Amino acid sequence: MFVKKTIRDINLKGKSVLLRTDYNVPIKNGQITDDYRIVQSLDTIKYLLNQNSKIVICSHLGRPQGKPNPEFSLFPVAKRLQELLDKPVEFVTDCIGDKVENAKQKLTSGHILLLENLRFHKEEENNDQNFAHELAKYSEVFVQDAFGVVHRSHASTSAITKELPSVAGFLLEKEVDIISEVLKNPKRPLATIVGGAKVSDKIDIINRFVEIADFMAIGGAMANTFLAALGIEIGRSIYDKQDIPIAKDILAKVAKTKKARDFIFCLPFDGVVSKKMAPNINTRIVDWSTNVISDIESYPKKPSIQTAKIAEDELILDIGPFSGAFIAGALQLSNTLIWNGTMGVTEVQGYHDPVGPYAHGTDLIIQSLMGDFGKKPFSVVGGGDTVGYIESRHLNDAVNHLSTGGGASLELMSGHKLPGVEALLDK
Ligand code: 3PG
Repeated sequence: MFVKKTIRDINLKGKSVLLRTDYNVPIKNGQITDDYRIVQSLDTIKYLLNQNSKIVICSHLGRPQGKPNPEFSLFPVAKRLQELLDKPVEFVTDCIGDKVENAKQKLTSGHILLLENLRFHKEEENNDQNFAHELAKYSEVFVQDAFGVVHRSHASTSAITKELPSVAGFLLEKEVDIISEVLKNPKRPLATIVGGAKVSDKIDIINRFVEIADFMAIGGAMANTFLAALGIEIGRSIYDKQDIPIAKDILAKVAKTKKARDFIFCLPFDGVVSKKMAPNINTRIVDWSTNVISDIESYPKKPSIQTAKIAEDELILDIGPFSGAFIAGALQLSNTLIWNGTMGVTEVQGYHDPVGPYAHGTDLIIQSLMGDFGKKPFSVVGGGDTVGYIESRHLNDAVNHLSTGGGASLELMSGHKLPGVEALLDK
């Protein structure tokens, strides 16, 4: 249960509200390519409109390094928000200063003003109190609804809460409640999947999942570090030599856990490999667990001679079909899935296929959680790459809870506190 005050717990009737959202959305040539985060902010905004509040919205977009940069302007977001709400959204080209104060003073009840990118000022990321003071001017209440950024101590997540009574919006409440609850009280069997680049970035989430899960799979480049730790030849695959001791520690913990209780831990036992990470290059499927020579036609051309060993000049770029099928099958026996990180290099686009050459492992998991194989486990998915891939395939609805947070969901799933939530008023 959410222990902080929310917009339901405070009188907002006609009040001037400063609302922090996470509108860090992908924009290409001035066009928003994915508006999931904007759509997810609407419930809170509509509630505030119903309260007749004067709504000033602030957000960051990208990492403009503390300087104004038109590439990272929130103007396209103002346009999209206006379309979604079917209501005018005023935009002002800064987030503090005279013109912002004028716009705030002119704002009337039931109207919305979106401020320009907070990160055009270095003071935002420096958690500067004076900057927070400027930001708070003419507002009576602060509403934090930017789940994606509450793992950071910035002026708009931390310092601002010393300026105004601060409560959570609906999105923040929902994210924290669902992710915390599924970790605390999952309907078992609980399956967990962790992917991504570096073991060292995800030690805490891996350790936590080893402690609580019934099934756990590892994929992505971090799996290569585990394979290297086990002495499996991985050719030129990306891995982190310095993380091998961490991987060995985790493997020791897995072995201990398996002795103590039923627990399945799955590292990839086959993979999609090629000599280069490119869309139109020969790939092979190598099964390193059983030395079975695979005969499967590769993407996109005919395969070269198959061997059961990864060659010195090859890279693992996705989990193989056997590992994918094993994980998908495990999900069919599970009631809950918590997933953070893709299984392969999903960002390489396919030429004719909507699924890229190194995205089949990730896609198989999505099919399994969608119920395509019969059963649909309750699924909670976080992590920037995983969520981005699901959005790019327009499969958001397949997931029970698709988090708007990358780093924030990782922190929460790892069991860490979120500074932007801690700073809010207690219930
Ligand atoms: C995100 O996209 O994960 C959030 O908006 C936070 O962005 P940041 O990693 O640049 O702080």
